[in-house]
Amino acid sequence: TARKILLEFQEACDTPVARLRQVVDAMAVEMHAGLVSEGGSKLKMLPTFIDHLPDGNERGLFYAVDLGGTNFRVLRVQLGGLEGRVIKQEYEEVAIPPELMLGTSEELFDFIAKELVSFVAREGEDFRLHAGQGREIGFTFSFPVKQTDINAGSLLQWTKGFKVNDAIGQDVVAALQGCIERRGYKMRIAALVNDTVGTLAGGRYWNNDVMIAVILGTGTNACYVERAESISKWGGELPKSGQMVINMEWGNFWSSHLPRTYVDESLDNESLHPGEYGFEKMISGMYLGDCVRRVLVRMAQQAGIFGPHVPHKLLEPFSLQTPDMSKMHHDNSSDLKMVAEVLKRVYGIQNTTVGIRKIVLSVCDTVCQRGARLAAAGIVGILKKIGRDGSAANGLNRRNNTFEQSDVNGTHDEVPVNCPTGSGKTVVAMDGGLYEHYGEFRNYMQEAVVELLGEASKNVFIELSKDGSGIGAALLAASYAEYVPT
Ligand code: BG6
Ligand code: GLC
Repeated sequence: TARKILLEFQEACDTPVARLRQVVDAMAVEMHAGLVSEGGSKLKMLPTFIDHLPDGNERGLFYAVDLGGTNFRVLRVQLGGLEGRVIKQEYEEVAIPPELMLGTSEELFDFIAKELVSFVAREGEDFRLHAGQGREIGFTFSFPVKQTDINAGSLLQWTKGFKVNDAIGQDVVAALQGCIERRGYKMRIAALVNDTVGTLAGGRYWNNDVMIAVILGTGTNACYVERAESISKWGGELPKSGQMVINMEWGNFWSSHLPRTYVDESLDNESLHPGEYGFEKMISGMYLGDCVRRVLVRMAQQAGIFGPHVPHKLLEPFSLQTPDMSKMHHDNSSDLKMVAEVLKRVYGIQNTTVGIRKIVLSVCDTVCQRGARLAAAGIVGILKKIGRDGSAANGLNRRNNTFEQSDVNGTHDEVPVNCPTGSGKTVVAMDGGLYEHYGEFRNYMQEAVVELLGEASKNVFIELSKDGSGIGAALLAASYAEYVPT
């Protein structure tokens, strides 16, 4: 029966705190491994070449382009230094034509260039370049890139809904720069940044305690400030600041402790990138709805919950989107009207009983809860790695007041990573539609962070830093600009 299928699924997805702790430890261990050598872990742990974050002194007019979330964005911002901060900003959002997500590199980058130059052409008089300043751009590109400099790097692979094969291995900055120049414009891409890195920079601009940034949107990922000397695979000179931002690409994290089910297997097989980004496929907005759909298909096929025939559309991969799942999950009416409405609108399913609707809602709850708790374990894994999960204090050697490695895995750093304020607080800057719009997901995640950290959770703050990554990219363009006004 459907109830039996539900119970089995719930059991397979279960994430009691003991299991989450194993995920936390695995995350911290893999972070270490990924920093030691290239290919040392499924966690790519990509050095970003960002060794200092915006501090408020940035001045002038800067642009950003932002590709990789649901929408493509262009933005300009006039920065006024510490007194003025963000004097004025404007942005435009354009949906990416779906065919470009699966087309050629030239088409994709030329589309970005076209939107950017037409936006620049509409620059109003209240935006001003300093004398001698050229237009510089921060390029938010939310995919894994192996950087060779702050503004150069080759695309390792596509993720989410993108698959533009001939771009793999290409320098994405050179590709965009070329398209801009061919359109007769002269602009310099000063910084190439992942959306997590943009969010970190945007968060730090306003709050010095921001050390980590997480995206929970179409995809999921995190970046954080690492001690440069911990990055053993780093071949270059160590930065003066002693720190470097690492883009983890945690979507590709894997551990045997993750609760993998038949749903995850079939979803992976039928996805655009089979075998890749397994953690992302359990957590992020692009996939949660489809996890639900796959359980409903089993219930329809084996227990006939939607009548004698399985609704045709239900068999279509990705036909249930996460915003609809969230609507159903949020339904607290006694007869679950919203669940009925979504089933009818999306699948043409009529006349469901309240009992069936309750089962559908429970499936949404199970998938959401698992994703949210795994995301929480990921965050706590990072806190553990940088010695900010509260347990580093256990390792404080009272005699000489130094920190010692306190755990058997060796996953703790000896000293916590410096934070500019030394306040003891750690702020996680968060962005992405899933976190922003899916209240149940947010609550489950926060609850699990508290469960895992106990007392130490009082010093950890997760703050929504909405659209911070576009402005963050512009701020980084300013930090790494060629011309720095005095
Ligand atoms: C945005 C960023 O604020 O958040 C994007 O600027 C990022 O670059 C996005 O990818 C994540 O959002 P979404 O649309 O995937 O929920
Ligand atoms: C995917 C991308 C990653 C990005 C994340 C969130 O995981 O590979 O670079 O940060 O989605 O947008």
